[in-house]
Amino acid sequence: MSSSSSLASEISQAQTGALSAIAGASDAATLRAVQADLAGKKSALTVLRSQLGKIQDADERKSAGQAINACAQIVEAAITERMSVLLAGERAQQVASEAMDLSEFVSAKRRGSTHIVTQATQRLEDVFIGLGFQVAEGPEVETDFYNFEALNMPKTHPARSEFDTMFIEPASADQEPNSVLLRTHTSPVQIRVMQTWKPPIYAVMPGRVFRRDTPDATHMPVFHQIEGIVVDKGITFAHLAGIIEAFTKAFFGNEFTSRLRPSFFPFTEPSAEFDIRRANGAWIELGGCGMMHPNVLRAGGIDPDEYTGFAFGFGIDRMAKERHNVEDIREMYTNDLRFLRQFS
Ligand code: DAH
Repeated sequence: MSSSSSLASEISQAQTGALSAIAGASDAATLRAVQADLAGKKSALTVLRSQLGKIQDADERKSAGQAINACAQIVEAAITERMSVLLAGERAQQVASEAMDLSEFVSAKRRGSTHIVTQATQRLEDVFIGLGFQVAEGPEVETDFYNFEALNMPKTHPARSEFDTMFIEPASADQEPNSVLLRTHTSPVQIRVMQTWKPPIYAVMPGRVFRRDTPDATHMPVFHQIEGIVVDKGITFAHLAGIIEAFTKAFFGNEFTSRLRPSFFPFTEPSAEFDIRRANGAWIELGGCGMMHPNVLRAGGIDPDEYTGFAFGFGIDRMAKERHNVEDIREMYTNDLRFLRQFS
């Protein structure tokens, strides 16, 4: 550092060298190595900085120090900018390499199609989403608590026997016998949704359910249901009737209407069954519904003095059967392509 002009040129050389090393780093790892070198003892800037003390004149020393700092800032800014460019590029590359080509699924080469029950489920979801509902799912293997107890069916409740339940052997010795089962309805998902969401809740929950049943033209031991709940302030039976009617028209068409008949379910009070009327005047039983029992709201962690709600549930397979005039529900599961292709 003999004179200030040569110092200035050394600083500018150091800067040029640093900037070209930064620009030359082609990936983030290399840039990190360059950054470490530039901060290291052997870097030109560090060497220059260490020589500052040798400058006798205080003013000269100060301005040399400022020049080195300014240069260091430029270098640092260059590193930050280059790093963000490199990281963005690497991220884009990763996203591109992980991308799946889903277009094939809809292309003309498509093989297979969605099953008639899947189609019905998707249409139901669409209709309820259109009415402001969200879709939720729950497990097929359930506990006694969610399938019965939380739905206001304590251990001795007679309604339990109406569900021909298939039990699963407990996984560990500390679980009671018959405490794990294949869910007999989608109603346990009501409880799970209430426990995890906060009101206002507008949810539908489709899924597979299981009952010990011999297959015949109208029954299968494995079938599908869709459950719905609304939990909000000031919800009344009139809202329930309104939603059922709106759903009936949206799903089946404007020429259809619905009716409610008094019924009994342990989880609702009052309870009703709902039917829909075909254009030809015939009534079809669709499912059950009612105002959620205070015990059920409580089991879901909701204060029944603050909120009220209604629930409904119905079979999807049977609905698809009605809609497409399928004679025998077993046809839907024998996987005969001649049958399935009619709905593709
Ligand atoms: N879980 C009932 C069943 O499988 C159906 C049902 C009835 C669901 C009334 C409900 C309801 O949510 O309110 O038979």
